[in-house]
Amino acid sequence: MPTVQASAISHPNIAFIKYWGNVDHNLRIPVNGSISMNLAGLETRTTVTFDASLQSDQLTLNGSNANGAALERVSAFLDHVRTLAGINQCARVTSKNNFPAGAGIASSSSAFAALALAATTAAGLSLDTAELSRIARRGSGSASRSVPGGFVEWHAGSDHETSFAESIAPADHWALNDCVAIVSKSHKETGSTEGHTMAPTSSLQDSRVAGAPARLDIVRQAILERDFGTFASMVELDSNMMHAVMMTSQPPLIYWQPATLAIMQAVGQWRREGLDVCYTIDAGPNVHVICSADQSDTVQKMLAEIPGVSDVLRASPGGPTHLQKDAA
Ligand code: DP6
Repeated sequence: MPTVQASAISHPNIAFIKYWGNVDHNLRIPVNGSISMNLAGLETRTTVTFDASLQSDQLTLNGSNANGAALERVSAFLDHVRTLAGINQCARVTSKNNFPAGAGIASSSSAFAALALAATTAAGLSLDTAELSRIARRGSGSASRSVPGGFVEWHAGSDHETSFAESIAPADHWALNDCVAIVSKSHKETGSTEGHTMAPTSSLQDSRVAGAPARLDIVRQAILERDFGTFASMVELDSNMMHAVMMTSQPPLIYWQPATLAIMQAVGQWRREGLDVCYTIDAGPNVHVICSADQSDTVQKMLAEIPGVSDVLRASPGGPTHLQKDAA
């Protein structure tokens, strides 16, 4: 085993066409494909060291020792890497985010993308982007999309081989910004992993999934043509459809707070007034407001004035997951 330690950096991503529900929960084969943008400036840095003297895997998250569910999920992921590399050493994993926990940023996307690259490299493997995306998917579905750079499509596929993400345009293709309006920083009660298992309990899920290929085509094309109007209406529709499924699941999942709706309505008004702006919401109350970069100062200021908004983070399109060469 030549390399025993490696460090990687990854950006979280925001989905424009959402992943909600799996056909295979173990492999994380999703019921529909999805499209996202990596978020520059927000990042996870992860170092993995395989160490023959360790009796079990160890995890440090944002400076604190992690046990329980978080460690089990990382350990299960490392098992896939160990199987692939034919090794059996335990590992020390140290991971840090530069964005606040519970800020409505899907940290599992950057967490498992960075872990996938750091762990496979430390294990002596050198994988191409598609293969790294497949491996990252085993840790968290959305992590498959943080592996390639810029604007990314995750092909749903039907098995491990066919389910992976690839870049559809580089980060500098379109100067969009994501202004994340923070409504609540409290930890969500039902996380995505559990939410995916509940998706089939909504009678609206089949109809959402049936329309996904058409929405993917429209959003992919709108990104390639930088057509904001088409992009905006489809991104909002797809987010609303996912939340309609969530709200009609059994038991219902209602992630919105009053301020969430206030932002959605304000964004609609701003678009009617001529701004290039639209919203999308993940499994939480915070609102990702996508806008053209040259209008993002204005949008950020207006968002901060809405009652109930405590903070507004801003990100531009980000690059791929990469190794951190100078890590200690
Ligand atoms: C609403 O990737 O967090 O953000 O695979 O169980 O880790 P796991 O789920 P996760 O689900 C993301 C759900 C979403 C939509 C999206 O990012 O596409």
